[in-house]
Amino acid sequence: MEINRYKLPQHIAIIMDGNGRWAKQHAIGRIRGHKKGAQAVRAVVRSCREIGIKHLTLFALSTENLGRPKEEVNALMTLLDEYLSKELNELQKQEIRLTTIGNIDNLSANVKDKLIQAKESTADNQRMILTLALSYGGRDEIMFAAKKMIQDINGGQIKLNEIDQDMFGRYLQTSGLPDPDLLIRTSGEYRISNFLLWQMAYTELYFTDVLWPDFKKEDLLKAIASYQQRERRFGLISEQLDQNNEQGGIIRSQD
Ligand code: IPE
Ligand code: IPE
Ligand code: MG
Repeated sequence: MEINRYKLPQHIAIIMDGNGRWAKQHAIGRIRGHKKGAQAVRAVVRSCREIGIKHLTLFALSTENLGRPKEEVNALMTLLDEYLSKELNELQKQEIRLTTIGNIDNLSANVKDKLIQAKESTADNQRMILTLALSYGGRDEIMFAAKKMIQDINGGQIKLNEIDQDMFGRYLQTSGLPDPDLLIRTSGEYRISNFLLWQMAYTELYFTDVLWPDFKKEDLLKAIASYQQRERRFGLISEQLDQNNEQGGIIRSQD
């Protein structure tokens, strides 16, 4: 699979779905499906780093997922704990910075501590930013941003008429991250499931039937190749894009 190294998406976001169905296909329990899914996470992080992707955001656990049966939620915490213990060295070696979005207070105390540590110790790494969405929900994120803005208006820190899209974006947990250029969802579901609702206004969407535990570098390259064939118009017409590109304008069709 050929991809153009000069036209890479800056930011890839992935909804890693299908661990349960993978387990069912292999006649094993859901938890073993999640284990296999964690291996696919390791591989995709490495591949993105190798390819030169600057930002990778992985939907690992939604706020809604925390309502799954207790045994499954506990197993997911244990896997996350293991992932953080085993991968920290690798992240350092590869100069990857780890960040999170979502409410990590809802995670087990162990996992929360390890995340705080991992975020601190990788804070200076600049090759790639890996953002894990954990106990994350897009609507919650937007709602909390709105609440915080209202507080800041009432406190006099900002004025109502100063609020614009850039400022709103800075109140979100993704503040500082560019919007995703490419969203990949595995497992044949065609929905967003409360992921990055604000940020995906102009993201290119790529859906594949591959179940997350089976997702390989080749599948990632296919998604990137599909992205590279698209024309991102941001509401304009093709001719305007060319014009803007020549002028080095804001239209990022050549990311
Ligand atoms: C994605 O796989 C992992 C998480 C949501 C934590 P699922 O567990 O949703 O797998 P399916 O959708 O049941 O196959
Ligand atoms: C989305 O998958 C969340 C993650 C991959 C972490 P879900 O399996 O929770 O989504 P739905 O329930 O199919 O919409
Ligand atoms: Mg699912």
